[in-house]
Amino acid sequence: MKILVATEKPFAAAAVDGIKDIAADKGHNVAVLERYTDKSQLLEAVADADALIVRSDKVTAEVIGAAKKLKIVVRAGAGYDNLDLAACSARGIVAMNTPGQNSNAVAELAIAMIIYMSRNRFTPGTGCEISGKRIGIQAYGNVGRLVARKAQALGMSVMAFDPFVAEEKMKEDNVCPAPSLEKMYEACDFISLHIPATPETIGSIGYDLLSKMPKGGCLLNTARKEVINEPELIKALEERSDLKYVTDIAATCQAELDEKFGKRVFATPKKMGAETAEANINAGLAAAYQIAEFFETGCTRFQLNK
Ligand code: 3PG
Repeated sequence: MKILVATEKPFAAAAVDGIKDIAADKGHNVAVLERYTDKSQLLEAVADADALIVRSDKVTAEVIGAAKKLKIVVRAGAGYDNLDLAACSARGIVAMNTPGQNSNAVAELAIAMIIYMSRNRFTPGTGCEISGKRIGIQAYGNVGRLVARKAQALGMSVMAFDPFVAEEKMKEDNVCPAPSLEKMYEACDFISLHIPATPETIGSIGYDLLSKMPKGGCLLNTARKEVINEPELIKALEERSDLKYVTDIAATCQAELDEKFGKRVFATPKKMGAETAEANINAGLAAAYQIAEFFETGCTRFQLNK
């Protein structure tokens, strides 16, 4: 079988080598399309692929249409809003992700962002310490849990809101379950977003929540830009000169944010939450193993389009 690794943002070399070794061991071939700049390159490369490994690369109905032999696509990562699951299902293509494999890298970036913003983005001036501050985790999944543990180790107290996680689970981790999302925003100096982009969450973080944050409040986004209501973010930042926003996924209106709010906002130049060798190796190799097992035994663990 031919496995195509199509990554506009490439994996670390060791991850690609590992994918090739796993594939070769099972008699599969690997083709690599990295740093492609045009959709047409992906459409051409995928034409004869039996399996596809991607990161945030968009696997649209057009890509599925061009992939005449495709049987499985694996998003090496957690969020799968880049996969057109309906198009996959319509063709009987199995779609999977590799949950948890890059979570630690994202959680470490969230902690780095907290310190960076607390210390005036490493420019002169009096900052503040994070020990003793309160952080609210919005969605207590793989990444949220790791952020909570790391924040606790740095002396922060942690609250979490997740309607899909039992309160007992949070309490076991010494995390305070938030009585409501609003109450969490009201109580926390930092809010860290770990929600996926879904029809329910898109545009859901806006003025009403942000304006509840205490003085000096900072919103961290290592999730997806789509969950932010950008006009309302601007309104909240305009009204409150103490609020801050730091994101790993530049807003559509990032230039305006930078111009209007200067040091109170920061966006990484390119999404880098999962940009560690370890995360690439964990997620890339997991994707390769999942594909190899699918071809060998038909295993569909982690299938998204059931
Ligand atoms: C994920 O959903 O796994 C992260 O956002 C990482 O995305 P990336 O593979 O594009 O870095």
